[in-house]
Amino acid sequence: MPTTHDSRYLAFSCTRHDTDISAFGRLALAAALCVMFTWFPALAMAGQSPAPATTTISTAAAPSTALCASCHGEHGAGSDVLGTPRLAGMNPEYLAHALSMFKDGTRASVIMQPVAQRLSPDDMHALATYFSAQHAPLAQAQHVPSADLISAGKRLAESGGVHDVPACFSCHGSSGQGNGARFPAIAGQPMTFSIARMREFQARAKAAPPKPGSMTEVASRMDDAQIEASAAFFSVTMP
Ligand code: HEC
Ligand code: HEC
Repeated sequence: MPTTHDSRYLAFSCTRHDTDISAFGRLALAAALCVMFTWFPALAMAGQSPAPATTTISTAAAPSTALCASCHGEHGAGSDVLGTPRLAGMNPEYLAHALSMFKDGTRASVIMQPVAQRLSPDDMHALATYFSAQHAPLAQAQHVPSADLISAGKRLAESGGVHDVPACFSCHGSSGQGNGARFPAIAGQPMTFSIARMREFQARAKAAPPKPGSMTEVASRMDDAQIEASAAFFSVTMP
């Protein structure tokens, strides 16, 4: 049911900031950047290329949760079409740490880095606390995954699989609900986000040898089918 926050509405109504970045679907990125430029006109004026990590935005006030909601959903369910993660119910320290990594450039994202640039440590803490206390239904899927794909993902989550891929539950909690500040909840994450994130871990593993026991190392062992199946399973599993 379309609402003013419906990402499909944004996707179809706002395409003028289309770019060549391949991390998200073109449609999703156009929509996400559209939201960004609506909130941060300074970025749109800065030129064609997406904002680098060093961009500073001089607006004084800290963004309200309404800014976050425009991409992550009102209660932080995330969005499959935008490729944005679920924030609802996630560990607050994990969320705050993720924001600080975007801010200092140690976690890549042309979208989140400029958002995080504006946030003080107190803002990050407040936003993280807010979203960790939210409850949200699963984000609506663009394509409902097949039952076969979901059960392949469930097997991988419970028992691991070929190429010595370990069981996801062994680190992410017994149902993917997360474990402390280090191991995020992966249940409930929209499929497009999980796939993009695992591909990013893989790219990182190619650039430098991953630390044993890190997600970068786990992802480096995974093949495309394992990525797709696990992302499908977690996208239909409530954390
Ligand atoms: C224009 C869209 C957009 C806006 C606005 C936005 N985000 Fe994001 N956010 C994203 C995308 C896309 C990602 C995924 C980035 C990646 O991993 O490549 C993300 C990732 C995150 C993550 C990492 C979560 C995880 O599980 O890894 C956190 C935390 C986050 N955003 C918090 C916020 C907060 C808080 C706000 C408001 C101040 C906000 N975001 C505003 C698009 C947005
Ligand atoms: C050895 C422990 C370990 C195992 C096993 C593991 N992970 Fe992870 N995973 C992590 C850690 C640690 C992080 C956080 C990485 C970071 O913040 O940079 C993570 C992050 C993630 C993320 C990003 C979540 C977010 O919100 O940003 C996804 C998606 C993910 N893992 C999927 C999986 C899947 C699917 C499996 C099973 C095939 C799996 N993981 C198995 C340790 C593990």
